[in-house]
Formats: sequence, C-alpha cells, structure tokens
Amino acid sequence: MTNKESKRYLVTAALPYANGPVHIGHLAGCYLPADIYVRYLKAVGKEVLFICGSDEHGVPITIKAKKEQITPQQVVDKYDGIMKNAFKDFGIDFTYYGRTSSQTHHDTAQAFFRNLYDKGVFKEEVTNQYYDEEAKQFLADRYITGTCPRCGNAGAYGDQCEKCGTALSPTDLINPKSALSGAVPILKETKNWFLPMGEIQQSEQFQNYIKRFDHWKSNIKGQCNSWLTEGLQSRAMTRDLDWGVPVPVEGADGKVLYVWFDAPIGYISASKEYLATEAGSAFGPWTKWWQDEETELVHFIGKDNIVFHAIIFPMMLMTHGEFILPSNVPANEFLNLEGDKISTSRNWAVWLHEYLIDFPNRQDELRYVLTSIAPETKDSEFTWKDYQIRVNSELVSIFGNFVNRVLVLCDKYYAGLVPAIEGKLSNEKLIAAHTLCLEQVSIGIAAMQENLKAIKLREAQAEFINIARAGNKFLADTEPWKLVKTDEESVKQILFDALQICAKLSVAAQPFLPHTSENLANMLNAKGLVWGQLTDAVLVQSGTQLGKADILYKQVEDEEINKQLLRLEEIKKANTQAPQAKPLSEVKAPITYEDFDKLDLRVGKVIEAEKVPKADKLLKLTVDLGFEKRTILSGIAEYYTPEELLGKLVTVVANLAPRKIRGIESQGMLLMAGNDFGKLYSVSPEKDIEPGSAVK
Ligand code: 2FM
Ligand code: ZN
Repeated sequence: MTNKESKRYLVTAALPYANGPVHIGHLAGCYLPADIYVRYLKAVGKEVLFICGSDEHGVPITIKAKKEQITPQQVVDKYDGIMKNAFKDFGIDFTYYGRTSSQTHHDTAQAFFRNLYDKGVFKEEVTNQYYDEEAKQFLADRYITGTCPRCGNAGAYGDQCEKCGTALSPTDLINPKSALSGAVPILKETKNWFLPMGEIQQSEQFQNYIKRFDHWKSNIKGQCNSWLTEGLQSRAMTRDLDWGVPVPVEGADGKVLYVWFDAPIGYISASKEYLATEAGSAFGPWTKWWQDEETELVHFIGKDNIVFHAIIFPMMLMTHGEFILPSNVPANEFLNLEGDKISTSRNWAVWLHEYLIDFPNRQDELRYVLTSIAPETKDSEFTWKDYQIRVNSELVSIFGNFVNRVLVLCDKYYAGLVPAIEGKLSNEKLIAAHTLCLEQVSIGIAAMQENLKAIKLREAQAEFINIARAGNKFLADTEPWKLVKTDEESVKQILFDALQICAKLSVAAQPFLPHTSENLANMLNAKGLVWGQLTDAVLVQSGTQLGKADILYKQVEDEEINKQLLRLEEIKKANTQAPQAKPLSEVKAPITYEDFDKLDLRVGKVIEAEKVPKADKLLKLTVDLGFEKRTILSGIAEYYTPEELLGKLVTVVANLAPRKIRGIESQGMLLMAGNDFGKLYSVSPEKDIEPGSAVK
C-alpha cells in the first residue's frame, strides 16, 4: 500500500456462485457499491480495472446440479449468462467478467498451487474427514451441516457459519449431518494439503500486513481481530471431490483445489484473460495490476466472505511472494427483505430479472433505494413501502421535479434556449436566495466527493440529493413563475443558474444513477461534461438549445407495490404450506416385464389444443399418432397453455380404454413428470421422431 494517492486501482467484486439468478441482496451487498466506487474513480481520472466473474466450482454448484438433476457444467453454463445479463441491465460496468471454468483459470490456479507446493508452504497430512457411507463421498464444506460451536446456529456449514461469519472445518461442527443423505457421517482417513495459517500468522510479513486493518471499516476490523486473537488454525486447500480444479501434484488423484483457494485466484485469471485481448492491451500487462505497489487492490464483498479476502487470500498472495496485498476490503453486512433473511431456496428475494419485468427501465430507482439503505455498517432492510416512499418523495419530488420545473419554464419562456444573462438580480431577497443556493450546492458537491472517496456511498448519495434539494429551494424562494410578470431579467438569471445546477446534477449522478445521468445530459444537450466541471460556474452556455423536457422518474403507484407485496405473501404462504415431498425413493410394488409390456406407449404430436369450457384443469387435445388421430382430454391446463402444446411431441398411453369426461370421449392419456411441489412437465422425446413411434 502506498502512502501517496495511487493513480491505479484494481477493484474486484466477489465472484458470485453460478447457481442461481441475482437478487437485491447481491446487488446491495457488493456489486452496486463496487460499481459506484469504480465510476467515481474513473470520473476523477484514475486508471481502473474492475474485475468479476462466475464462481463455478465448489459444493454450491454440485448441490444445485443434484437438485436440478443436471450436470454441474450445465448449471454453470445456465447461470453464468443469466447473472452476466442481470449485472449489465443494472449498469454494473465490469471491465471484465470471467469464469472459473475457463482454461486460463485452471492453468493459473494450478500454477499458483504448484508455486506454494514447491516452496514447501503446504503441510501434507493424512487426517480423519467425515464420509457419507450411503453416498460414498467425503463431506467437505456445504456437504455437511451441523451446529456452529461459536454461536449455536443449527444450520452452519462445514466451511463456515453464515450467521456469525466464523470459518469452520467439518470436524468443528456439533451434531454433524450429511447434506446429501441426512446420515450421521463416519470418519475416514484421507490425505490433503493444508495452509498452515497459524504459522503464517506469526510471520513478520503478516504482522505488517494487518496494520492496514486500522484503516478499514470497523465491521471488518472487528471480525478479523477476533479471529487473530483466537489464533488461526491450519486449513485444507484441497478436497476429495470430482468437480473443481484438479490438484496438480502427484498422489492427488480424485482431489480438487478447495473452492476458496481457487475462487479468489479467479480475480487474477480474469485480469490475465482480459488483458491478453486486444481491448485489454490498452491497460498494459497483467503484472502491472497485480504485482506493482503503485496499484491499490480493493475487494468489495459481503460479510460472509471477510475471512477469505482479508486473511486467507492475502496469506496465499504473501507466501507466493510476487503479488500486492489488498489495500482495502470494504465488506457490507446483509440486506433483509420485509423482515426476513433473503433466501434463494425459499424464493424470498426480489430477483433482478423479475423486477425489470414489473418496473421496465427503472433500474436507477432500484439502484437509488439500495444505496440509500445500503448495509454499510449493519444489516438493513428492504421493504416495498419504503421503496415507494424513497422513489416518490426523493427521486420524483426532489430531483425529478426540480429538473422538470426548470426545463418546462425554459421551454415556455425561451422556447427551450438557455437564456442570455446580464449577471444581475433585482433585489436583496433574490440575491440572498441565490447566495444560499450556491453555498448549499458547493457544500453538497464537496461532501459528496469526500464520502465517495471514503467509500461512504450512502452518505455520498444523500449529499447528491441535497444538491437537488438546494435547487428546489432556490426555485421556491424566488418563484420565477410569479416574477416573470414583473422582472424578466431576474428570471433569466434564476433559470440560467438553475440550469447550471441541473447540469451539475447530471455529472454528479454518474456514479449513482448512470442511466439518469445520460438522460439528463441529453435533455440539457450537455453530453460529455466531466467530473472536473462540477465546481465550474457555467456548464451550459447561453443560447444552447435544450432538448425535450421528459420526466426523469415515474411515480410509483400503490397498485405496483401491492402487486409485489401480494407476490411475497403468496411465497410466504407456499413456504409455510409446502407439502412434505414424498421421498423420491418410495416406489410402488414390483411388477413383471409382462405387466409393463401390456402398455402400448406411442409418440404423438399435438395438432389441436383448446380449453374445455367450465373445466379449469382440462385441455382438449387432438393428437396425431401417425396411424390415426385421437381426442385426448388432459388435466394439464394449469401447467400448459393450448398454444404451448401445439406441435409438441408427447408420450401417449395408446391402449388405455376410452372413457367419457364431461361428455367428451378421451381416447388415451399423456405421460407427465410431476412432483409434489406442483410441477408437471410433459414426457417428450429428446429429438424429433415420427408420430406413432413406440416408446419402450
Ligand atoms: O460467497 C460467494 O458467493 C463466493 N462465490 C464468493 C467468492 S469471492 C472470490 F473469492 F472469488
Ligand atoms: Zn456461528
């Protein structure tokens, strides 16, 4: 870390596990603050590399694959794209978004491990690890759950308690249980490579490194100091799993790198990958970013990632020896939703892609609210009512209203031209209002900048709104719409000054509200304004033709909020009433092959489909079986629309005796895959095949 101001920043945002879509907790916890800070750094002329990517290894991925009954590769391929798009939609402007399944990453992570291995950093040890005899698998990390020995949380994982943030080993857990089968695991010997964190803690280099904690946020300092006081334990950097980066040493067959060893190296490999491209070449070689003391390395993370970024990764970097260490780790606490912890498995979340369906083009409103309530120092709470209040009373009534009034008045009085002025106001009252406004605007700008620099983004954004507030007060104090009848020259001056404040707001909005910043710059015909002009007196010149005075923000209506609350209520109900799934292993009594062979199963093609009047669940289908067409009634109207079924290949029980339903003869039955959670999917051939083909 340098004492003088660094000109180069390498900013990282925690690599999210590629096992689900992105929700507001992710955004508020790390990606939005990182983006605001990066936009600010770029605005003040720093050279910045902003790195993120998908974390595609580890147990969270394999557990998801098991649940969805697809391969881990299919899981990460599916969610990598979904996550990347969500970030883009919300203006999270990474320089590069990588993937830890990339070849560059595998090579980089293996070389890193090999470097430490060759230096003799790791301790190779045969230890007893938990093993699930039913699943025939060692139970690392999230494959094992139990009670946290520190805080008593009964749902702690084998690598960490998410409640108190403690890094754990499976053998630390009280009452351990396999997350795969629920069985009590046995202990079985296996060899692994351990990072001797206790020893490294004593080293002079580490002791020097931790001095920088003094300048970090108190939540991080507090957590780190409490682990250090307790004394760090060795931690295995390898796992007995088949999904991950293979351990690149002899005698390690069937073992992969611990996901928390490989994931942070993902920041390095993503940087390397990007900087090797043509677009990246303008940033210079990757070593400049990772190995030059002139670079400030800043990791944005959520609080459950603190130990890995503030202690374990720095230990890896320092034992390797060729890397800089983090200058700052601004971790946020958690965001809750309507009084409850956000949870992917319980669907208790506001998903970014769903938000955009209900609130199209209103990304900045969500960015604004999430920054206003950012969990910078303690957990905070998102509620839809609060969202409505903040958008309506701050963005709409203060910022949007100020800009709109100024533009509408300029349009009305000067046909949308910035007025020419003589620099005079006609009386003391107007002069006093003007002086006060200028003072408030410059105080707001200075305070906003100081807070941005200190990564106090919540306060920075509040100061930003204060600038608009000062502009609004100026209009209220001077009332140009009344004054215009008697004092045209003063009105020109007032609106000229108000337009300069609008222009400053378009610049100051850049880090927080990038879409609005652009819209406003277009309305003012003032594109290309830069941060350095925030303190200039004039940003838009007299005679400039202003653009159309569109509104910046729409009012959030009660119905829109009620719809969201209703959705959450339904989720809560579904969570409390969710039927207990029958164990999937519970099968019916055995039958012989002859029994099975009595069924005549055929591929059919749906050629007509319609709802059956007065029967909510029934669809009437005409199915082409190749040799004949059948009418089939199927109780799937809750799961498929008639349009979705047209042209679809289905599996038909072709020799089921016909029976009359609602007066219509049904001549067969469709095969469907269903579970107890209300999912029902047609059993259809994987590839195109002629109708009438036998299913056997
Ligand atoms: O907690 C998580 O979602 C992890 N995937 C974060 C990894 S951050 C870094 F190490 F890559
Ligand atoms: Zn705990």
